[in-house]
This record gives sequence, C-alpha cells and structure tokens, in this order.
Amino acid sequence: MSEQQHRHKAGFETRAIHAGYEPDPTTGAVIPPIYATSTYKQDGVGGLRGGYEYSRSANPTRTALEGALAALEEGERGFAFASGLAAEDTLVRATCRPGDHAVLPDDAYGGTFRLFAEVEEPWGIEHTSAPVSDVDAVRAEIRPGQTRLVWLETPTNPLLNIGDIEALASVAHDAGALLVVDNTFASPYLQQPLTLGADVVVHSTTKYAGGHSDVIGGALVVRDLELAERLTFHQNAIGAVAGPFDCFLTHRGLKTLGVRMDRHCDNAERVVEFLSGHAAVSAVFYPGVETHPGHAVAARQMRRFGGMVSFRVTGGEEQALRVCERAEVFTLGESLGGVESLIEHPGLMTHASVSGTDLEVPADLIRLSVGIETADDLLADLDRALG
Ligand SMILES: Cc1ncc(COP(=O)(O)O)c(C=O)c1O
Repeated sequence: MSEQQHRHKAGFETRAIHAGYEPDPTTGAVIPPIYATSTYKQDGVGGLRGGYEYSRSANPTRTALEGALAALEEGERGFAFASGLAAEDTLVRATCRPGDHAVLPDDAYGGTFRLFAEVEEPWGIEHTSAPVSDVDAVRAEIRPGQTRLVWLETPTNPLLNIGDIEALASVAHDAGALLVVDNTFASPYLQQPLTLGADVVVHSTTKYAGGHSDVIGGALVVRDLELAERLTFHQNAIGAVAGPFDCFLTHRGLKTLGVRMDRHCDNAERVVEFLSGHAAVSAVFYPGVETHPGHAVAARQMRRFGGMVSFRVTGGEEQALRVCERAEVFTLGESLGGVESLIEHPGLMTHASVSGTDLEVPADLIRLSVGIETADDLLADLDRALG
C-alpha cells in the first residue's frame, strides 16, 4: 500500500500501524530502526542520501513518527518535539512576533498558561483568556489585526469543558488568526481537529499517543504547506527535537492507540456511572454524560468521550487529598494517558502554577486518568478510597 493510500484511504488502525514507514529496503525490518546517529555520510559534497544531513534537521526514526502523526491527524506534515511544551513554544515563535496576541482557554493546561505568561509575554506576545465553551466570549477577546492565535483545548484540562472546533475555526479565520487545537486529551482516534477547520494540532505525545508513561514528547500537525515550511525552519533552528529512542517509543505507542482508547473509554464510562451514584461525590465532569453542557458538541466532533474524568467530593480539600492518598490501583501521580490509572489533586499538583489566578481550580477537585486495567478493580479501589 502506497504512502498516499495510508494517509487518505486506509482506516485509522491501518494507518496507525503502517503509515510513515515502509519495511526497510535493505533488511526488511518491519519496525523503524532506532537510528542512533548524529550525522550521515555524504556521497560527495552535498550528495545527501534521502535528504539526511544532521539529526537535528531530520532523522529517519523521527521521519517515520512524523509521517504516522500526520496520517492519523489527516494532516499533510507532522513534527516531533522533545516535549509538548517544546512543540508549543516552537509554534508560537514560528507564528507570532512581538506585539501579537493570543486567546487562550480560561482553563488551559497550567504549563501552557505558564509558557504564555512567563516566557512568551516578556518577549512581547500578549494573551487573554476566554471559556472555550462560549464562542461569543472567544470572539470578544479577539483583537483585529493583533490576534494571531486562537488556542483551544477540548476537552479541557482538568474540567473537561468542550469547545466547538468548527465554530471557533470560523471565528479565528474571520479575524485572520489561526485556530490551534491541543488534541492531547482526545487523541486523533477520538477527534481530528484539522478535518473540522483547525489550522494546527498540538500534542503532548507523552500522554495517549505514547500511551505507556515511558517517554516525554510533543507534536505539531498541519495541512498548510507554507506553515509547514515555517515550522520545518523553526524546528531545526530552535532544535527542541525528539531523539530517536523517544520517537521509537512514541511510534510504537501510536500503533495501539485505537484499541487502547476504546478500553480507556469503556472504563471511564464505568467509573463515571459509579461516581455519579456515590454519596461522597458532589459533581462529576465527563463530556459523555448527557447533562454535561458540552455533550452535544462533543458528540458531534468526537468518536467517544475519552479516558479523563474529574470529580468533586463533598468533604472539601481534606477529603480530596485523602482519596488521592488512599487509592492503590489508581497511582498518585501527575500526567495522564498511560495504560495505568492515575489519580491527582490538580489544585496542588498539575495546576499549582495557576493558583491565585483566574485559572485556579476548586480545592475539592480530583482528576482521574482512567487506565485500561480490569474495570471492577478500578471501581473497588475508588469505593475504598472514598469510604
Ligand atoms: C493538555 C496538555 N497540553 C500540553 C502539555 C504539555 O506537554 P509536555 O508535558 O509533554 O511538555 C500537557 C502536559 O501535561 C497537557 O496535559
């Protein structure tokens, strides 16, 4: 099957397994080798083999991953970085200049908020925020001629609010801005923002894409080739690239993304049902629940609703901390998207950096990354921890 067919015709799982790489012509290796090399022998000065010159610019293990990422997001070009935040910073520097402005989600991932507030702002890139679920509020934040990026997470972290990708793409485009969608929580299996009008997809591949909590990585995927050229330049000029070992692990993870995501969703649905009926739980946040304010939009733009669940407890911060510490199958830890279930207290952990700002999260909030263990064991663990 040709690369073109992998990208545009084959089903998701077929692309996940085959896109980006043809078995090695010399050995027939079915999996991309880890090209642990910094440089490449040239056939005469400037005579590059396959375009490889130096591994900051390109490395075959990274090329394979980047091709797979582009195919899964239905984009034209993918770019792999050392972390999600490295991808974000490279994107901002490739698209913005001092004096430009970005609109962020008002419950953005804390690290994204910190990047804009503490790193980009001192270099002259301004930002304001709006709730992703309110298209008019996002439109109202746009500064014509100054806003370059409208940044969307959907579902958001950790409150799982939903933004309408199609509507926000048109709001951004009316103002000459790009719509950037951080697709980390959904993964391309559940949602493909570029097909809904987004210009750039961002990933922390550390999460569902890698899927095994064993690698840090980030990605950008775009359709526009002129933007792709700018990103190619900045990826090389800044140099925050993913190394070949990391690319290998991330690419291996991508191959099972579809089956993992289905099990994450199955288990999350069981967890939501259990928590919704528990006396110690005051609210459950999951876009799959019909009463969730973003449910209709999520049902339109997502295949299923994902593995992330947040909830509030009746006993305040003290009880939230106790639940986090008492859980056993749910491991107390930051991050998400791995095969193992994780539990955390956003207020004191992932979102501590937004404490005291408009983005502060409730102190009685607990976030779960529901893994793919046996669902009954997950429910029993939560029951014990809540009891
Ligand atoms: C939604 C989201 N975007 C971006 C990032 C940043 O990615 P990384 O930690 O790989 O730099 C994270 C990390 O938790 C995240 O959850």
